[in-house]
Amino acid sequence: MRKFIEKALAKLPKLNHEQITSLIDLLLKEHERFEGVIDSLHEGVVVTDTNHRVMMINKAAYRMLPFSGGEHEYHLAWAVIIDRDISSWVERMLKEGNKAEDEEFYLEKSDTLNILSLTVLPLVRNRQVAGSIILARDITSRKRKEAKYRRAENLASLTTLAAGVAHEIKNPLASIGIHLQLMRREVEYQHSLTEESVCSYLDVLEEEIERLNGIVVDFLFAVRPMDTRMKREDMHRVLSDLLDFVRYELEEHKIELETSFKAQIHKAEIDQKYFKQALLNIIKNAIAAMPEGGHLRVSTYVSGGLLGIDITDDGIGITEEHMNKIFEPYFTTKDFGSGLGLTVVYKVIREHQGDISINSAEGKGTTFTILLPLPKGEHDLISWEEDGEIHYSHR
Ligand SMILES: Nc1ncnc2c1ncn2[C@@H]1O[C@H](COP(=O)(O)OP(=O)(O)OP(=O)(O)O)[C@@H](O)[C@H]1O
Ligand SMILES: [Mg+2]
Repeated sequence: MRKFIEKALAKLPKLNHEQITSLIDLLLKEHERFEGVIDSLHEGVVVTDTNHRVMMINKAAYRMLPFSGGEHEYHLAWAVIIDRDISSWVERMLKEGNKAEDEEFYLEKSDTLNILSLTVLPLVRNRQVAGSIILARDITSRKRKEAKYRRAENLASLTTLAAGVAHEIKNPLASIGIHLQLMRREVEYQHSLTEESVCSYLDVLEEEIERLNGIVVDFLFAVRPMDTRMKREDMHRVLSDLLDFVRYELEEHKIELETSFKAQIHKAEIDQKYFKQALLNIIKNAIAAMPEGGHLRVSTYVSGGLLGIDITDDGIGITEEHMNKIFEPYFTTKDFGSGLGLTVVYKVIREHQGDISINSAEGKGTTFTILLPLPKGEHDLISWEEDGEIHYSHR
């Protein structure tokens, strides 16, 4: 088809009106077919010329990317995209002429969060760069699936967990067995079973069943893939809510609460339910570490482009020997601890692409530090000044 059109074009001066009309008609059909192909792609495609002006935008790109109203053709590509992060990235990539690696962007669209992967490719024609192609892929469902199937981190940890459960359920099962035997003996040989002793046996059985149930529930929570629903939340509000919730318990244990919320940027992509559970587990441990009362300090800050949360107690501290074990499933130094509290914390923080570390001194206290990535966009609000100080600007 192309050869035919080229030939016809070469003969253009000799063509009559009718022939020219049918040639244009042919060109139009060819163009429509080409547009049809591009519009049928699942990927968003934006084509620019060498001056970075928009030549074409396909349907998928209109679905995925936030464009300004009005005309787009012949406008600078970054000027027609209204999302600040995407626009400035596109501008940088087009101006630098780099073949960019995929870059991920988070876009809020009618209350749901979409994840886009963008790439800029050179548009090559006759071995010459004739512009650029901006490719957009919606990777939201792929990302969700990845998160869903990120199960217990490896088989080894699952084995430890299973061995732990087996160990944990042994004691309550043995206790239930013994008490049933005792009851049977009293019924069969002595006929001395009073209402009072039946009740006391039943109490023990109930208690042990409760324990078994707790073990199973905790185990399931620790191994189940988390169905996280991330939303952009104000971390200071999340922390305040949680601290309000534990305020009474802290007072009861003569623990004074100090807060120092210094993070100028305190938005984070979190699943509030899971994240609060993780923080609560850390706070419960802190309370247990201060049997005589003490201070609980919760502080936030921004460091190296990450949101930091420190939870500090001045309790008993953790020995060096225990330090390596505390995140292990079922490791506990408590008489009635499950030892799954911190296993869950670790899992939740990892699910949030975050990191957790501990600083502890025996007899002095412990600090748990959580570092979370700042959401894209929030991140750009940090600007480094020459003196190395971090300054922030708010939109
Ligand atoms: N703030 C802390 N100070 C001192 N020791 C701590 C602190 N946090 C955790 N630990 C130690 O880590 C161990 C494991 O903690 P984890 O929360 O996983 O289980 P647990 O608290 O023992 O049991 P559970 O959370 O089910 O009540 C604790 O038994 C304790 O020895
Ligand atoms: Mg605990």
